[in-house]
Order: sequence, then structure tokens, then C-alpha cells
Amino acid sequence: MSSMVQIKQADEMQAWALARRLDGARIGLVPTMGYLHAGHLSLVAEARKRADVVVVSIFVNPVQFGPNEDFEKYPRDEARDLEQCERAGASAVFFPSVATMYAPDASVFVTEERLSAGLCGARRPGHFRGVCTVVAKLFNLAQPHVAVFGQKDYQQAAIIRRMVRDLNFPIEIVVAPIVREPDGLAMSSRNVYLSADERQRALGLSRALQAAAACVEQGGAPAADVRARMVEVIEAHALQLDYAEIVDAESLEPVAEARRGNVALVAAQCGRTRLIDNQIL
Ligand code: PAF
Repeated sequence: MSSMVQIKQADEMQAWALARRLDGARIGLVPTMGYLHAGHLSLVAEARKRADVVVVSIFVNPVQFGPNEDFEKYPRDEARDLEQCERAGASAVFFPSVATMYAPDASVFVTEERLSAGLCGARRPGHFRGVCTVVAKLFNLAQPHVAVFGQKDYQQAAIIRRMVRDLNFPIEIVVAPIVREPDGLAMSSRNVYLSADERQRALGLSRALQAAAACVEQGGAPAADVRARMVEVIEAHALQLDYAEIVDAESLEPVAEARRGNVALVAAQCGRTRLIDNQIL
């Protein structure tokens, strides 16, 4: 008999969270867009270490998709997700509808203005505004003490930390390591879009990051040289480069000299699928 609670309504979510807080429980939140894989489950495991009860939210957030992006075809499998959450030991799953999350005339949004300027923010206008808005709403609904995000979305995690700092959310943000397939491909719900040939070519992202890490193994290297090496690897895999950058881990500003502790980030189009990956050097 399952003890995992399934919640669809915003007021029910808040009431559940408030009751847990009155019980003295520490609440962990894992925000997701569903179609869960081992990467998401590692976030749930991390949250369970740090909280008494864990809420997984499953919501494909329309506000973070651009007009020509994959909101409609984003993979969804509610029954499988619920089963996986249960097996992972989640206490509650919050899976609201779009109408529950956004009033038709919603007019308040959260914008981060510095860290979101480059990288994915520059290529996906409005994306991080959508992410910050929905994450702020999920924080208000699930009332977590701690929230766990994946390093796979490095820029997103940095922006959420900044939002929590600048808007004084009393929430600890934990960023869990990227979970990779045995051959190095970072796990992503979007990997399901890849054909067999694209799946092979997609390895260009993690290999480009490995090449960047190799460049700084013996000390610093000009970032332009490291970048050129990443571009070479990506193009050798017949991927269409979106960006390859070496940035400061905190400010996300491009560096001139690549050093250990900097972050290498790549984004590329593989057929019709846009993939991202990163590595702390
Ligand atoms: O990383 C994601 O899956 C989403 O951007 C998030 C944080 C759940 C917000 O919709």
C-alpha cells in the first residue's frame, strides 16, 4: 500500500507542506518536468539525505519554452513517473495543470538580469524568466527547506541560487552531479528524441568537455585555445555548434585563461534536438 501522496491543486500542495512543517518535518523539493530518468532519481536520493519528506514536482512549464521550441512534443509519461517517484521514496508528487499554475491573465514574472544574459539565456530569450517564475511559485507552494537541482543545467542552478539570495528565499539550494550513460552522454529527457545515429554523434558534447579538461590538466591554458579544441571535437561529430565557452564558476563571465575550477559549457544541435552539457574543470 502506497504512502506517496499525489497532489494536483496548488492549495492542497500548500496545505500539505504547512502540515508537514507543523509536524516539525524538514521538506525537500525536487522540481522536474517529468519523463524521469536516473539523473532525476539521483536528485530525489540527494533530497532524501537532507530532508524528512521529499516532494517531486512534475510540470512541463510552458512559460520557459520559446514559440518554436518543443513544449507540445516534450516527452510525458505520468504513470511511469509516478511509479518511479514511489520507488525512489518520494513522500509526495505535485503534478499541477497549466491552469492551476498560471491564471490566464498572470502578469507577474521573476527575471534575473545578469547570469541569464549569456549562454542558453542568449539563445533562448525568456527561458530563464520562465524558469525563475515557476521555481519561485514551486517554492511558495511546496515550502521546502532544501531544493535539489542538477548540475546538468549549470546556468539554471547558478541563476536559481542568485534568485534565492536576492529574493531572500529561506531555502538551501543543493546542486547534484551530472549522471551520465556508461559512454559519457549526460542523461536528459530529450535524449529520447535521438535516432541511433544521432545518439552516437551526441557523444561529441561530453568528448569536447573531456578535451577541455585535458587542456587544463597541466595548469592554465588560453581559453581561446581550449574553446577551439572543443569546437573541433563538436564539429568532428557532425553536430551544429551553438556555443562552447569557458566561464568563471560563479559569475558565468567568459575567462581569458582557462584554469581548474572554471566551467566548460557546450550546447549543440544534434539533428532536431538541442543538447547541453558542462564540466567543472
Ligand atoms: O530543469 C528543469 O527540469 C526545469 O527547468 C525546472 C527547474 C523543473 C523548472 O521548470
